[in-house]
Amino acid sequence: MNKSILDYETVELDDENSALVIIDQTKLPTMTEVVNLKSAEEIWDAIYLLKVRGAPAIGVAAAFGIYLLAKQIMTEDYDVFYKEFCKQKEYLNSSRPTAVNLSWALNRMEQVCVANRDKTIAEIKELLKKEAVLIKEEDIKVCKSIGEYGLSLLKKGDGILTHCNAGQLATCKYGTATAPIYLGLERGYNFHVFADETRPLLQGARLTAYELHSAGVDVTLICDNMSATVMRNGWVNAVFVGCDRVAANGDVANKIGTSVVATVAKRYNVPFYVCAPTSTIDMNTPTGADITIEQRPDHEVTEMWYKERMAPEGIKVFNPAFDVTDHDLIAGIVTEYGIAREPYTESLKEIFKNKRL
Ligand code: MRU
Repeated sequence: MNKSILDYETVELDDENSALVIIDQTKLPTMTEVVNLKSAEEIWDAIYLLKVRGAPAIGVAAAFGIYLLAKQIMTEDYDVFYKEFCKQKEYLNSSRPTAVNLSWALNRMEQVCVANRDKTIAEIKELLKKEAVLIKEEDIKVCKSIGEYGLSLLKKGDGILTHCNAGQLATCKYGTATAPIYLGLERGYNFHVFADETRPLLQGARLTAYELHSAGVDVTLICDNMSATVMRNGWVNAVFVGCDRVAANGDVANKIGTSVVATVAKRYNVPFYVCAPTSTIDMNTPTGADITIEQRPDHEVTEMWYKERMAPEGIKVFNPAFDVTDHDLIAGIVTEYGIAREPYTESLKEIFKNKRL
């Protein structure tokens, strides 16, 4: 039987070969290429170029990555080890600015060093490996739990619209926004999903439509400018999206175009839900205005994914990779510990109190 894209691990550790193993997502859906990353530069490039992407997957890749880089530090002196560890950590952390999962995972790994400074370097390296494996295992449980809470918001036969890829390819299994869809598939919910193609990098077309279709979900691909039409037609009962950072007031940064979908959903009374593991909630960022939005190169808009350049030479380009959706457009933030609702300044704090997984 042919292997489906869902049979591949998004991010894996090959400790024997000291490699971070990923599917190169820039080649999907036409080619499934599994690549081994070993050096700091290879890992940094893979994150920057979106070979591995999606907030939770970036976090797991960084955790495995910093473990592999720590493994290469040859010293018995803790201070020398820690200084080099922090240097590599800062380097990986500079690969993408918006998804907080990157710094969240790297900080968790740093804490392992700090808390075990009395141990040998060999022991610290072993503990770093354990922590990175745990981060990956937790991601799977967290996504499943988000799926259960998300499914409680839906009924059989519902139409769901999603933007970008918050699917299995953005996590280690289930995805966040797609988790209710996968659980619904197992339980006979017969959802109809609309996947926004997601310009300019087409994560919706290349990744979401691909993985949902491979799983047997009824999915229809639409261009980004069609979401108003499908909502106006009454075909969408709920919007589910993922996110890269939730601010303490409930404002959410996610793939560029998300706030357009949220605004349209409000117009047509379609509830707009954001799925966010607590690793994506940043209580140290007060509002969406405080979130750094990644700016990406012009050629992604003018050339990439076209057969030939589709814009005049020398044209000015604005290419923010993310936008901020204001919290008043969000019907609920679905986490692994429950669903936060307005006022988010209070409900997000409550979510952290419920932490138990
Ligand atoms: O630039 P990308 O492809 O990394 O952007 C991904 C998104 O915006 C996702 O919606 C988000 O990271 C959540 S993934 C569960």
